Amino acid sequence: MDMSEDCFLVPGPVRMGDTCLKALSTPVMTARGPEYRDVMAHLNSGLRNAFNLAPSEPIRGVESWSGDDDYKVVVVSGSGTAAMEMVIANRFRSNDLVLVPTNGKFGERVAEMCQRFCNVKHLKYEWGRAFDLYELEQQLERGCYESLLICHNETSTGITQDAAAIAEMCARHKTSFILDGITSVGGMPVHPTEWGAEAVVVGAQKCTAGPSGIAAIAINSNFIERVHAIREQGDSNPNYYLDLVSALKKGADDQTPWTPAINLAMGWGAALQVLKDESNIERWERCEKMATGVRNLFLALGFELLADSAQRSNTVTAVLYPEGIDDSWRARLKDDYNTQVIGAQDHLKGKMFRVGSMGETPIEEMVEGCKRMIECFKSFGLDLPNMDVESYFE
Ligand SMILES: Cc1ncc(COP(=O)(O)O)c(C=O)c1O
Repeated sequence: MDMSEDCFLVPGPVRMGDTCLKALSTPVMTARGPEYRDVMAHLNSGLRNAFNLAPSEPIRGVESWSGDDDYKVVVVSGSGTAAMEMVIANRFRSNDLVLVPTNGKFGERVAEMCQRFCNVKHLKYEWGRAFDLYELEQQLERGCYESLLICHNETSTGITQDAAAIAEMCARHKTSFILDGITSVGGMPVHPTEWGAEAVVVGAQKCTAGPSGIAAIAINSNFIERVHAIREQGDSNPNYYLDLVSALKKGADDQTPWTPAINLAMGWGAALQVLKDESNIERWERCEKMATGVRNLFLALGFELLADSAQRSNTVTAVLYPEGIDDSWRARLKDDYNTQVIGAQDHLKGKMFRVGSMGETPIEEMVEGCKRMIECFKSFGLDLPNMDVESYFE
């Protein structure tokens, strides 16, 4: 086995491609001049494509953040959590009530974040189990919720929520729908317009293979009107750096209220161009192919997957360790097999590993990584059958 090339199969931050790395090292430019406004226009246009929104011209001065639909994209300096906080802090008043069903760490984080800014009904499902949609419907029937928020793709457990069904329920009950799309946007079908989503959040370092520390939101006109109305009523939650009203004042002009993350924006713009060149559909299909291969291969080897079978994610797969194996397997995989996957969080720590299938990862790297994982398990004494690994990824 030739270990000279590393296999980097974590569910974000993912490996950045050469065009992104090159763009990151562009010489400095001023934050307010035409050069940077060109960068923003390119980034906004790439983001609209990644969010699966109507296109915009990547040209300064033509409102690249909007398009022929009801949405605007806003770039946020900070990781995905900052963008999620911007959405929640600006959209709700402290006496609003929101519904947050969860089945993993990142959904629970959405609920926790909401608790800082409004009232929350947290429907906590077991990690990896699908939401009970009947229970959600019953809750929405009460008519008391301003919004329903979900973590669309739960990276901690490898489950994807049935966003279309939840969106349909929210529409019937006239409740706004907000998604943490941090590991779904750019990696699997996300349909903000069809779903009538008020806001969707993405982080650069996941499915779009950009740099860590920059993120974005896509928001519709209901969301924007509500944010302005709350501000005019003097009822907003405290915030300053993440003030959306300030960001909205600058966005039409390809600008940001504070010094932007200039080089991160250039790097992300380049990565989003790679996504656009591949096309959303091709990328979603490649992610699906890799995830399906990993799932089927490990099931055939006799391993168990954490997530409910009907809703397994196409960007991250959570595989339970067999009896007698723990995270020392992951350490050996890194040190001796030049391959990285990631462990579990909280109560599942040491009990499973997670394989990312997102970004620009080529299928060959996933095949090679899976072969090394199997060899590494064998080195721990597991008696595994010989597999034709390639055949799972055809
Ligand atoms: C689904 C999801 N939401 C939120 C986050 C937090 O994002 P960040 O670390 O970019 O702040 C992550 C990070 O892994 C995630 O996977």
